[in-house]
Amino acid sequence: MKRKNNEQATAPHDRLRELVLTFATLFLMCSMAAVANDGGTLFAQCAACHGSKGEGNATLNAPAIAGQDAVYIERQLRHFRNRRRGADEADVPGIQMQAAAAALADDTAISKVASHVAGLPKTVVANPASGNLRNGTTLYHGKCGACHGGQAEGNAALKAPRLAGLDAEYMKRQFAQFRDGVRGTDPQDTPGRQMAMMAKTVATGRDLDDIIAFIHQQGRPK
Ligand code: HEC
Ligand code: HEC
Repeated sequence: MKRKNNEQATAPHDRLRELVLTFATLFLMCSMAAVANDGGTLFAQCAACHGSKGEGNATLNAPAIAGQDAVYIERQLRHFRNRRRGADEADVPGIQMQAAAAALADDTAISKVASHVAGLPKTVVANPASGNLRNGTTLYHGKCGACHGGQAEGNAALKAPRLAGLDAEYMKRQFAQFRDGVRGTDPQDTPGRQMAMMAKTVATGRDLDDIIAFIHQQGRPK
């Protein structure tokens, strides 16, 4: 009888403790989910290759992504995930990025990290490429500027990304991939197909070097 009384006396305390524990656990889980979904926290895993400011790391083949259009970034992350980009077995940098994109949990994580990256201050390459600027300027304005903008700043309405911060090796590699049917071949990938058509119109490597020299002069502090 006495024992039963004791049980009755402690039961409300146990329930209360249980309730408090449940709330504490729920609170912890919610805040953990919020942290994991926070764009800045997600970006930490990108910074290892793309640099702490998203400025890129040419040694790791990782291009600058800071300040790039959010919709463009999201599209590329989706393309890496669904193997529209980076699926060619010879494309080692593409395969690396495919693994990084696959590590993002879902569409929410993709759009959170994309908007964080898009909000980072734009960067320019540390060592601008050299070339014949006269030829590069003429070719750029004739063949590229209509989509990528007069100062290679990009044009979101035309889905054309900013080029000004991208290192020369990265741009040459992408150009070759568009030209050779590695990137921009999927029938659903309209922006990629547009760029693939354009890449076939630049005849020589020297011309592309000159165009890149022009691009690297853009967006720099004067
Ligand atoms: C292991 C290194 C590595 C990590 C980690 C990584 N990337 Fe990349 N990323 C690359 C490489 C290499 C490329 C270039 C791929 C190519 O040449 O096609 C790339 C390309 C990209 C592109 C395409 C850029 C463009 O201009 O088209 C985007 C966007 C991108 N990464 C975003 C991210 C984001 C966001 C994260 C973090 C969630 C991330 N990356 C993590 C290595 C990495
Ligand atoms: C008809 C519009 C159009 C023209 C003209 C054009 N581009 Fe593009 N370009 C695009 C679009 C759209 C994309 C994005 C493709 C995608 O989403 O994969 C792109 C992508 C690129 C990329 C890849 C960027 C990255 O971050 O990976 C490079 C490099 C590039 N263009 C260079 C050039 C150069 C150089 C010229 C001129 C010779 C040029 N483009 C002309 C529309 C154009």
